[in-house]
Amino acid sequence: MTDLAPPTVAHELRRLLASSHAPYSGVHVAAAVEAADGSVHYGVNVENAAYPQGVCAEASAISAAVTAGHNSLRRVWVASDLPGLIWPCGGCRQKIWEFAEPGCEVISVPAEGAAESHTIEALLPLGFRLPR
Ligand code: THU
Repeated sequence: MTDLAPPTVAHELRRLLASSHAPYSGVHVAAAVEAADGSVHYGVNVENAAYPQGVCAEASAISAAVTAGHNSLRRVWVASDLPGLIWPCGGCRQKIWEFAEPGCEVISVPAEGAAESHTIEALLPLGFRLPR
């Protein structure tokens, strides 16, 4: 456990791995996002027999935040039952980018050892954004 992952968030991510629906890959993932007001919203991966319909944990967490009225994210955490660190897939990097404050941290929280952080800009250089 490190400063990068508050104990409450790290604990909740571990606990939520049991809620992940991953009968096809067997990989259980949980994610959390912190909104600009400090509120934290959680999600898990939800797979489907029609494989492409599966949803990543990050997408679930973003949906929970947006549903609760938050569309500006300053931190994202991801944890899984795989050994070591995992990082969001390409599609989820774009989904995070859509709502990320500049410098939004994406933090991988392993079961054991130190968490690691990278900004969304480092994980997704030149992400796509429509002109407004
Ligand atoms: N998965 C996530 O939920 N988040 C990630 O960052 C990487 C992968 C899920 C998708 C699928 O349900 C399972 O992990 C294996 O790819």
